[in-house]
Amino acid sequence: MAEKPPIGVIGAGWVGLVTATCFAELGHPVVVREIVQGKVDSLSRGELVMHEPGLQELLTKNLDHMTFTTDMGELLQRTRLMFVCVDTPPTYSGDADLSRVETVVQEVGDSNDHALIMKSTVPVGTGAAIRRRKHDLAYVSCPEFLKEGTAVEDFMHPDRVVIGADNGDWAGAAVEELYRPLGGEIVRTDIASAEMIKLASNAFLATKISFINEIANVCEEVGADVTEVARGMGLDNRIGPKFLAAGIGYGGSCFPKDVTALKQLAGNSGYHFQLLNAVIEVNELQKRRVIGKLKKHLGDNLVHKKIALLGLSFKPNTDDMREASSLVLSARLAGEGAEVTAYDPVAAERAGELLPGVEICDDPLTALSGADAAVVVTEWPQFKELDWNAVRDAMKTPLVIDGRNVLDAETLTAAGFAYEGVGRPSAGVPAEAFDAAPAAAG
Ligand code: UDX
Repeated sequence: MAEKPPIGVIGAGWVGLVTATCFAELGHPVVVREIVQGKVDSLSRGELVMHEPGLQELLTKNLDHMTFTTDMGELLQRTRLMFVCVDTPPTYSGDADLSRVETVVQEVGDSNDHALIMKSTVPVGTGAAIRRRKHDLAYVSCPEFLKEGTAVEDFMHPDRVVIGADNGDWAGAAVEELYRPLGGEIVRTDIASAEMIKLASNAFLATKISFINEIANVCEEVGADVTEVARGMGLDNRIGPKFLAAGIGYGGSCFPKDVTALKQLAGNSGYHFQLLNAVIEVNELQKRRVIGKLKKHLGDNLVHKKIALLGLSFKPNTDDMREASSLVLSARLAGEGAEVTAYDPVAAERAGELLPGVEICDDPLTALSGADAAVVVTEWPQFKELDWNAVRDAMKTPLVIDGRNVLDAETLTAAGFAYEGVGRPSAGVPAEAFDAAPAAAG
C-alpha cells in the first residue's frame, strides 16, 4: 500500500486532537504542533487532556506514529499539508478573534511547498485575505462539522467534506485524496463559499433549535405537546427529525460563537441579519424560563430555596462547559437568592471554578437531598435511571423541572412528583388537574 502522506496539525485543542488522531488511525504519520508545553508532554505520553468518547483509545493505539511538539520548524520540515485547528473565539464586539490564525500564517512564512488547510471557523474572506498576502502558500478551506461527544464517528463517517480551494491549487486535490477513503459527499467549491457553508450550517442548526423552543413556549400556552409536534414535523423529509428537541437552550463552543460571528460578518458587510438576532435572543431567554417554572410551583420568593441542578456540561458525553445553560441558570438562581447544588458525571471538575457559590456534589442524591426542586439541565442518560422513589424521599419538595424533556413524566407523577417539562403542559399533570386550552375565540 502506498505510504500515506504525513499530516501536520496546528493546535491540540478538541478539533486538532480529533483530526490528528483520526488521520493517524487512517495510517498517516501525524505531527501536532501545540504551543502549551504541558499539553505536548501529556499527549506525548498518550494522556488525553479532554473527555471525548473513543478518542483516548485511538490515541493510545496510534501514538507510535504521532509526534507532539511545540516547534513549528519540525512541522514544516516533516509535513506539507498542515491543518490549522486553532481557536477563533469571539471578541467583545462579537467578531471572530483571528489572532491565533494570524500567528500561524506568520510562522509558516513564505513557503511555496506547504499548504494551510483551515479547519478553524473563520469569517468569510479570511482565506482570500491570506492568499493575497501569501501568494506562494497553498490554501484550502476545509471546515469541520464534528459534534462533541460523537466527534470520532462524525470524522470517520462524514455526511460531506467541504473543500474550498482556488482552481488548480494542488492542495485541494491533495486534501480530497486524504478524505476519499471516508466516503461521504466531497464538495469541491471556492474558498469563500466553503467558509460560508460552515457558518451557515451552524447558524441554521441554531435557528432550528430556537424555532422549536419558541414552538414549545407556545405549546405551553395552548396545551399542545412539543415532543408530539416535533415528531409530526420531523417526518417531513424537508424538515427532518434532528435538532428539533426543545429544551433550555443551546450552548457549546460553536453555536453561540458562530451565530454571533455570522451576524457580525453580515453587519460588517452592510447587511442587518435580523433572523440571527432573534435566534440569539430566544436562546438566552430560554435559559431563563426555568426561573418562571420554579416560581410557578414554589412562589415568587426563591430566597433560601434549595435548587438541585442535574447536569452542568453543555450537552451529554462531554465535560465542556462553554456557554452551557447551567452557567446562566445558576447565575439567575443566585440572583434570586436561591441555594444551588449540582451534580454532573464528568464536568464537575471544570465546573468548579466556573460556578462560584454552587455546591457541586459527587453523586446526584447528595445534590438532591433537602432540595425544593430538581432541574434537569443536561440530558445525561443516567438521570433517566435514578431511583425516583429514593429521590422523592431525599428531597424537601417533590418538584422536577425537566429542562431537556428527557424524563418519563408518568414515572415521576406516579412517584409523587410535580413534573414540568419544556413545551409539555399536560405531561405529568393528572388529566383532571389540567385546564383545557382557552376556548377558541369566536
Ligand atoms: C455543533 C454542530 O452540531 C457541529 O456540526 C459543529 O461542528 C460544532 O457545533 P456541538 O456544539 O458539539 O456541535 O453539539 P450539538 O450536538 O450540535 O449541540 C449543540 C447545542 O444544541 C447543545 O447545547 C445541545 O443541548 C443543543 N441542542 C441540540 C438542542 O437544544 N436541541 C437539539 O435538538 C439539538
